[in-house]
Amino acid sequence: MIQHLDAQNKSIGIFDSGIGGLTVANAIQNVLPNEHLIYFGDTAHLPYGDKSADAIRFYALKISKFLLEQQCKMIVIACNSASSAAYNTLLEFFDGNVLFVNVVDPLVSAVVDRGYSEIGVIATKATIRSNIYRDKIKHKLQSSKVHSLATPLLAPMIEEGFFRGEISQSVIETYLGQDQFKSIDALLLACTHYPLIKKEIQEFFNHKVQVLDSTDVVANFVKNMLEKEGLLSNGKEKENEFYVSDYTSSFEDTAKMFYGKSIELNTINIW
Ligand code: DGL
Repeated sequence: MIQHLDAQNKSIGIFDSGIGGLTVANAIQNVLPNEHLIYFGDTAHLPYGDKSADAIRFYALKISKFLLEQQCKMIVIACNSASSAAYNTLLEFFDGNVLFVNVVDPLVSAVVDRGYSEIGVIATKATIRSNIYRDKIKHKLQSSKVHSLATPLLAPMIEEGFFRGEISQSVIETYLGQDQFKSIDALLLACTHYPLIKKEIQEFFNHKVQVLDSTDVVANFVKNMLEKEGLLSNGKEKENEFYVSDYTSSFEDTAKMFYGKSIELNTINIW
């Protein structure tokens, strides 16, 4: 029997290429403990950062269809690579059937509101190639200087559990020690994997640079949007659900660090 749920008691769908988006899921759960979350990590196609925009759009469409079938009222694209490649396509394709939130706009608003003058952006190749951060920041804050760098080693390194150690320190130093970052006053971690190395990055800059990520800003954005739409849940009846498209051995251990507690994983083939 098909279950018909009141709109506000439907779930929030969240997806990423892997487990990085769990940092966003965790922030949403902290801000909105009454909401039921359905998380999908597309580990079969990780990393998205090295894929073409067309491939990312195809994955994002399939995943969004799956989440919609699970009765989601909102889908959070908890991946910058997918947000930059697929957000507009998803809005157009689903044509108002579900609310979409990308992780780029809330982070851009945070940096624009604080009026930084020299801003560094690190992200995957796909996000940097799209120029989405540079264009959106420069559009709202013309006087700012934006220095962007693709840092493709970071997501797989974190996904494999290599952080808070010699390997991560040396990779961070190689990327962030570049001259272009010498006089920045803010650095955007424009990949949802990077909150896991935020502390290391802050230490690298001796806490002299504001390091911003898309966890709390996205969670608050989600809250405001649900409030505005009258879709805040008044209590959840079941545990959050977590799906991956392919099981990886490091996933379970690392997932715990990303989400802050153990989670039960379900492998599902939606392709
Ligand atoms: N977490 C994804 C993002 O925010 C990137 C990881 C990947 O390359 O798959 O862009």
